[in-house]
Amino acid sequence: MNIENEIPLSEAQIAVHWREEGYFSPSPKFIGQANASDPSILERFAEDRFPECFVEYAELLSWDTYWNTVLDTSDPPFWKWFVGGRLNACYNCVDRHLQADRNKAALIWVPEPEDEPTRVVTYQELYRQVNEFAALLREYCGLKTGDRVTFHLPMVPELPVAMLACARLGVIHSEVFGGFSGTACGGRIADSGSRVLITMDAYQRGGQLIDHKVKADEAVAEAARNGQEVDKVLVFRRYPDKYSSDTPMVSGRDVFVDDVLPEYRGRVVEPVSMPAEAPLFLMYTSGTTGRPKGCEHSTGGYLAYVTGTSKYYQDIHPEDTYWCCADIGWITGHSYIVYGPLSLGTTSVLYEGAPTYPDAGRCWRIAERLHVDIFHTAPTTIRMLRKLGPDEPAKYDYHFKHMTTVGEPIEPEVWRWYHQVVGKGEAAVVDTWWQTETGGFLGSTLPALQPMKPGSCGPGALGIYPVIYDEDGGTVEPGSGRAGNICIRNPWPGVFQGIWHQPERFVDTYYRKYCRDKDSKDWHDWPYFAGDGAVQAEDGYFRILGRVDDVINVAGHRLGTKELESACLTVDEIAEAAAVPVVDEDRGRVVEMYVSLKPGLRPGKEVEDKVSAAIDREIGKIARPRHVWIVSDMPKTRSGKIMRRVIAGISNFADVGDVSTLANPEIVDDIRHHVQRAK
Ligand code: WT7
Repeated sequence: MNIENEIPLSEAQIAVHWREEGYFSPSPKFIGQANASDPSILERFAEDRFPECFVEYAELLSWDTYWNTVLDTSDPPFWKWFVGGRLNACYNCVDRHLQADRNKAALIWVPEPEDEPTRVVTYQELYRQVNEFAALLREYCGLKTGDRVTFHLPMVPELPVAMLACARLGVIHSEVFGGFSGTACGGRIADSGSRVLITMDAYQRGGQLIDHKVKADEAVAEAARNGQEVDKVLVFRRYPDKYSSDTPMVSGRDVFVDDVLPEYRGRVVEPVSMPAEAPLFLMYTSGTTGRPKGCEHSTGGYLAYVTGTSKYYQDIHPEDTYWCCADIGWITGHSYIVYGPLSLGTTSVLYEGAPTYPDAGRCWRIAERLHVDIFHTAPTTIRMLRKLGPDEPAKYDYHFKHMTTVGEPIEPEVWRWYHQVVGKGEAAVVDTWWQTETGGFLGSTLPALQPMKPGSCGPGALGIYPVIYDEDGGTVEPGSGRAGNICIRNPWPGVFQGIWHQPERFVDTYYRKYCRDKDSKDWHDWPYFAGDGAVQAEDGYFRILGRVDDVINVAGHRLGTKELESACLTVDEIAEAAAVPVVDEDRGRVVEMYVSLKPGLRPGKEVEDKVSAAIDREIGKIARPRHVWIVSDMPKTRSGKIMRRVIAGISNFADVGDVSTLANPEIVDDIRHHVQRAK
C-alpha cells in the first residue's frame, strides 16, 4: 500500500487570505523605556555587517574564552558560530546574577489549583537546586559531558532546574512535552540514546491530578523495543512525601528524587566550560517523512541568539516580571521561558495549568497578583480566552507594557482584541514567526522602532534576511501579491546544528531545495528552507500562510501527517489512512482522519474509537483528530497514490482541484456526500 501524496497538501493551500491591515504604534512611554529605541541598531545589523553584527548578541554573555572566528562556513550547511569560544549556559543563566541579584526571584511557579501556594525560586535558591541536582546526575546517574538524558516533565520548576543542571555538566537534555504519550516519549529516548529518564508522578491540569508516571513505564518499554535500555528513572513527586501515581515503582530502576537528593545537599559543582559549538539540547519536532527529528541546538550561538532577541524583541529588562504562558516542552519554553529570560537575569513566571482553568479570568488574576508586565502566548490561547471571557481582562488591575504572540498566524480580529482588551491599548505587540529549528525569532517587529501590523509578523529580525522563492528558485518580489516559500538567505547563531545522527536528512530537508551549488563554501549559496508559505508586502512585512509540507500546525503544535497515518495503521481493521488539516475557528487548524477498512469489514463507531485511541497511544491526546471518517475508498492516482489534496478540499468545503487524473474519480462525490452531509 502506498500512502504517499501525489501532490503535497499544504496548510498554505487552504490559507485564509486576509487583506493588508493598517499600522499601530506603541506609546511614547513604551518607546522611552525600550531596550532598542535608537534606530542605529538597524544599521549595526545591516547586511554588510554580517556576520560580525552578531558579536553584539554574543557580548551579552559571559565567556570563559573568547572566540577566534565569528562564523566558520568551511563545511556548508553545518555553520559554526563563535568558534574557539568557551562558556557555560548554566553559569550564564544562574551564577552570574548572584552577585547583584542573589535574592531576586528567578522563577515564580504558579500551581494550577488556586489554593496551592505560589513557589518563588530566587537566583540563590536556583543556584543551590541546580548544583545539588547536577551532583546527583553526575554521581548517582553517572552522567557525563556529551551524554543525553530525556525528560518527560510537566510545567513545574523542577524542569528548568533539571535543564540547567544538565547544562552545567555539558549533558545534552532532551525534554519531551508532557502531553505526548509514553510511546512517543520512548521513541525519542531511543533516538537520542538516553539511558536516564526524568519524570514526575503526576501534575495538575484542567482541574485533574493526572497520573504521569504511567507514561514512563510505557516509554521505557517502547525504548527497549527500539534497542535502548533505560537503567534509571528519576521520579519527582508533585506533592512531597506522597506518591500520586497508581503505577508501582520498579525496584532497581525507579527512584524518587527527594529520596536521593539529601545526599547531595549543599554540593557545588563547577560549571563545565563548553566549546561554543557543543550541543546544549535536543528538541524533537515533526517533519514531512519518518520519525520526529531531534533538532540539535548549540551552546554559544543558541544562547547568544535567545539572549539578544529576548532583550530587543521582548524588551526584557532585569526588573521586569515576564510571563510566557506556553509549555517548556516546546522550543518556545526553552528559548523564551528558560534560557533567554534567565540569561538576562529577569523574573520568569511558570504556570502549571490550563490558561482557562477554572475560568477565563485566571491568566489576568495571575498577571494582577504577580505584577506581570510582559506577557507572551499563542494565538490559540488568545482565541480561547476571547471566546470564553471577552470582557474579563477589564476586571483586573494589571498592566502589560509588552505582549508577544507566537506559533501560528493570528487573525487581525483576534490581534485587535489582544491589543485593545488584553493589552488595554497600552502594550506593544510583537508577532514572532520562527520554528523549533531556528532557536529564536526570525520575523518580527522591533517594538519601539517598527510599527505593528495585525496579521503580519513583520520584517526579518535583526541580522536575518528572509526572501520568498517560487518553486523554480526565482525571487518573488515584495508587493507582488504572490505567495511562495519563505527562506532565510543567511545563517544566524540560533539556527540548529543538525538533526541528531541524521546529517543527510538535515541537508536534504532544509538546504537542498534552493542550494545553488553544493560544492560552494559561500553561505550565499545555501538559503535555509523554512517550509512555510508567505507573502511579502511592499513595506517588507511578511504574512505567514502556513506549512507548505506535510506538517499540520494544530493550535501551535506541529504534527506530521505521516506520524498520524502510521498511528492509524496500527489498528487491525485499517487498510489505508490519510490525515488532512481543516480550518478551525479556535485552534487554527485541526486534523481530520480519513480511513478505509480492510475488505469485508463494516464501518462503525468502534473502529472510529480505535483509531482515536491509537493516536492517543502513539502520539498523545493533543493529536486526537476532530473526526474520523470511514470511507469506502480513497481518491487515488493511477499509480495508486492517495491524493490528500482532494480529501482536504472536501473537508474544508473548498475546491478539490483537477480530479481528471484520478483512477477513481467517482469516489470524490461519494466522499463529499458522506462528509459534507454529516458536518
Ligand atoms: C511553525 C513552527 C516558533 C515556536 C512555536 C512553534 C508556524 C510559528 C508563527 C507566526 C505564523 C507561525 C509556522 C512555523 N508559526 N510562528 N508568528 N505566524 N505562523 O514552533 O512547532 O517548530 O512550528 O509554526 O508554520 O513553520 P514549531
